[in-house]
Amino acid sequence: FIGFDVSDSTGNHTYDDEQEMLDEQIVIRFSHVVAETSPKGATVRKFAELVYEKTEGKVKVDVFPNGVLYNDNNEWEAIQSGSVEMIAPASSKLAPYYPRFQVLDLPFIFPNDQAVREAYEGKIGQQLMGDMKHDNAKPLTFWYNGFKQITYRKHPILNPEDFERTHFRTMPSEVIKEQFQMMGASTSVIPFNKIYRNLEVQFVDGQENTISNIYTKKFYKHQPYVTFSQHGYLGYVVLINRDFWEALPEDLQMKIREALAEATDWNRRHAIEINDRHTRALKRTGQTEVHFLTPEQREEWEKQLEPIYAKFKPIIGEGLMEEALNIRE
Ligand code: LMR
Repeated sequence: FIGFDVSDSTGNHTYDDEQEMLDEQIVIRFSHVVAETSPKGATVRKFAELVYEKTEGKVKVDVFPNGVLYNDNNEWEAIQSGSVEMIAPASSKLAPYYPRFQVLDLPFIFPNDQAVREAYEGKIGQQLMGDMKHDNAKPLTFWYNGFKQITYRKHPILNPEDFERTHFRTMPSEVIKEQFQMMGASTSVIPFNKIYRNLEVQFVDGQENTISNIYTKKFYKHQPYVTFSQHGYLGYVVLINRDFWEALPEDLQMKIREALAEATDWNRRHAIEINDRHTRALKRTGQTEVHFLTPEQREEWEKQLEPIYAKFKPIIGEGLMEEALNIRE
């Protein structure tokens, strides 16, 4: 029995007090799809610890990782109905409901991690979260993972032509689909927890993801070629069921917010490091060949993908697009 102080006059815990505390304990079920050692998995753990500590055990976060409770196909409904209290899907997975989130999927929009932070913490993040203000999934903050890299089965992907007649797995974002199609690839939307199997049976030949996801889910076993393309960013929107949130006493809301702010800070400081560590571990497996784009190759990708900006401007909106382009400069 740890974490909060329930004691009688002698300073000992009593069974009745403990039982009462447990009876009243509020549980937040937090479901996510990735490994516990990935940036998101580790941050959810951190958040759970902080919530327990700060609320002195009045609120407990039960974590369901690896898509064991809900996955990409059903977590949106689960958070809406309150079958789960919290999820943190990739922002790209909100695209079917809130298309403006696709601004974050634009290829080569973020030159570095600082630019991502500006987007998440600045006007872009505010506007996107504002789009959800009437939704029963209430957005609380953004979490970081890292830049996406390309993995492929048959050969290294270096020039745009290398994508021709290939088949890639994507998240459900039209911008991401368009990104692959503009390079000559076809795509299928597949939930994260089905990627491994689909690579194994060769239904898809490749996918894009952060190294932490590629390493912890062992995609490299069926993907002998990795290209560090840094063409897009993978980050998350942390969501809580609004009815649940609003029913919480104000002091607990405040403590949960504090825990989240600390966990988010931890996430921002550790996401890069975790991906770096997993990059070294991936190289040590010896199972995949690592490639980097030359500046000329990167330029070719950018040139080929440039029309995507004009194509999605009507969906993303002029204001948001302008904000994003300012960050890119
Ligand atoms: C993916 O589906 O590739 C990612 O969104 C998984 C994740 O949550 O990092």
